[in-house]
Amino acid sequence: MSSLQGKSILVTGGGTGIGAGCAAYFASRGARVTISGRRENRLREVADAIGPACRIVVGDVTSAADRQAMVDAAVAHGGGRLDCLVNNAGITHHGGLMEQTEASVMKVLQSNVAAPLLLTQAALPALEASQGSVIFIGSVHTRLAMAGRLAYAASKGAVQNMSRVLAAELGPRKVRVNCVIPGAVATEINAAVTGQDPAEAKAFFYKLAHMHPIGRIGEPEDIGQAMEYLMLATWTTGAVVDVDGGMGLGAAKL
Ligand SMILES: NC(=O)c1ccc[n+]([C@@H]2O[C@H](COP(=O)([O-])OP(=O)(O)OC[C@H]3O[C@@H](n4cnc5c(N)ncnc54)[C@H](OP(=O)(O)O)[C@@H]3O)[C@@H](O)[C@H]2O)c1
Repeated sequence: MSSLQGKSILVTGGGTGIGAGCAAYFASRGARVTISGRRENRLREVADAIGPACRIVVGDVTSAADRQAMVDAAVAHGGGRLDCLVNNAGITHHGGLMEQTEASVMKVLQSNVAAPLLLTQAALPALEASQGSVIFIGSVHTRLAMAGRLAYAASKGAVQNMSRVLAAELGPRKVRVNCVIPGAVATEINAAVTGQDPAEAKAFFYKLAHMHPIGRIGEPEDIGQAMEYLMLATWTTGAVVDVDGGMGLGAAKL
């Protein structure tokens, strides 16, 4: 029996990148996964590749109605239960202080901080019923200060602190809350703001291998393995786990 056999997992942003790879990994370990995102075609591609263990729900995490629909779909696909909410959906906005606008800052904070907080709220009854857990995604940008990542780093710092506070708050309700901090994984997250096409956005990450003492950038499955541990480790809550090939050590050779 696989270790995630029978688990019901909701992965936001599961149509691409880390979310898609983790969804496939969880399904390979026996879980039923529900993936959400705004682009139906991307979700369908992932679900078709995974098979019946994966169901899609199209929606925007910044919409209250869509958040509830995500939870409802995951509970239905999970046979009445939800064991883990993976708050993976996120955006970035590159630029320094003078490139920020109120709208750009608020969009990053709404997508990366407010939306996962409120989705966790919507999922709490189901998570409490299953004594499940929540996993947030932080960023190595909270370990390494890099000019031009202002709003993104601020939002991910908030995510990490939110995760720890929620762990304290929800522990008595038997819901665990943890956070992973990925290093560089080749995804499309830079494409929307750099104007690069998705392939170029991914290629950008492969140039960062030297920043990881392990000698390579990450694969979504690397992140999925750490999440699997956090889903199964029944006494681990409030953990902020670096899954970054050592990038956050700041030991990159020049
Ligand atoms: N790649 C890295 O090196 C890295 C490192 C550290 C942390 N992370 C974090 O990992 C997570 C996944 O990112 P990724 O690298 O896999 O990039 P990605 O491929 O761009 O994935 C982001 C996902 O979030 C979804 N999303 C964004 N805004 C949404 C919204 N308002 N409603 C619903 N879904 C939304 C997107 O789907 P739609 O556009 O279809 O909605 C997309 O599938 C993010 O939280 C990111 O900050 C990534």
